[in-house]
Amino acid sequence: MIVAMPRKSSPRKRNGLLDDRAVAQRVLDHIRDRTTDMGEATWREPTENYSSAKRFAAELELLRRSRTVFCPSAALPEKGSYVAREAAGVPILAVRGDDGKVRAFRNACRHRGMQVAQGSGCAKSFVCGYHGWTYRLDGSLRHIPHEEGFPGLDKAKHGLVPVRAEERHGLVFVTQEGKGARDETLERLPGLIEGEQTLFACSENVVPANWKILLEGFIEGYHIRATHKDTFFPYGFDNLNVVETFGRHSRIVYPFRRIEKLAALPPEERRVDGLLTYVYQLFPNVLITVLSRHTNVVILEPLTPSSTCQISYGLTNRGLGDEASRKEVERDAQFVTQTGAAEDRAVVAAIQRGLATGANSHFTFGRFEGAIVHFHRTLRAAL
Ligand code: FES
Ligand SMILES: [Fe+2]
Repeated sequence: MIVAMPRKSSPRKRNGLLDDRAVAQRVLDHIRDRTTDMGEATWREPTENYSSAKRFAAELELLRRSRTVFCPSAALPEKGSYVAREAAGVPILAVRGDDGKVRAFRNACRHRGMQVAQGSGCAKSFVCGYHGWTYRLDGSLRHIPHEEGFPGLDKAKHGLVPVRAEERHGLVFVTQEGKGARDETLERLPGLIEGEQTLFACSENVVPANWKILLEGFIEGYHIRATHKDTFFPYGFDNLNVVETFGRHSRIVYPFRRIEKLAALPPEERRVDGLLTYVYQLFPNVLITVLSRHTNVVILEPLTPSSTCQISYGLTNRGLGDEASRKEVERDAQFVTQTGAAEDRAVVAAIQRGLATGANSHFTFGRFEGAIVHFHRTLRAAL
């Protein structure tokens, strides 16, 4: 186990995560005692694992056989809504069918392999841009122009090749290879994203760093003071987090200073909304950050050992979908992207450049970086 054990009286949810009230208590205790959650041990990760082509190929294979988040359900709001992108190096297309069900396919035409959709949008069918073969939303092949040129071709056997897709917790999960083992801890997670949360932003940025370096920056608060001195730190604490692991995943709590006012309230009256940020890391490559007014779903798609496509979806939090709230939501989101997140991007790119120095044979993760230790231990075991 990575984290300090919760007090015996702590109420816990079925999935093993503390409930909001217990989180608030743990934070207040840390503020009073000037402490933070500590992992049991440090971890030395060979730097070779951030650059080796062999390791990178093994990680992509792991991603392809894992049940991974492809996009939030809100990115596929209606019949015909689709998202096409590369996942673990493979073009994949997810689409909501006429029956409302989300399906996913290998995004390659069955004639000569061209992608039948790009980006995102809403379609009635997918028409390949090369010769016009046309597929229904359920992937079946509807039309071949000048079909007489393909005598004997069985259209029923030339639909788009499906991959497993499921909707859970307001997210679309895809499993490219195999059945994707059932993940009980994830099953028990309460709705992370709810139906009424609407999508207000979506972006894709290529970051010049290994995907694991990006991931690590999201799941420890040890860097807040030094990296985010004038942006996040004035609102937060120096190295004060609640760190929990659940199954292969983890959750890190970043409290705001204004949470201290809860100390004056009886525990049953304490509400944490707007007083802390929850960061869920869904193994392997997805982060869900629940901020005051909005939630980001961040998918880290490894492109090469030294580059990553960061796909971010911004969703309004519950009850904030109206026009007036949305302005505030967007202002918040901009603040995060242009200040603290920009600082994080600069750091990860610098760490990537640092790899070339050969100065470190290992990176050492300390006891404050317990979620990272859990991630590397889990990744090593999964590979
Ligand atoms: S490759 Fe798609 S129609 Fe020819
Ligand atoms: Fe950061």
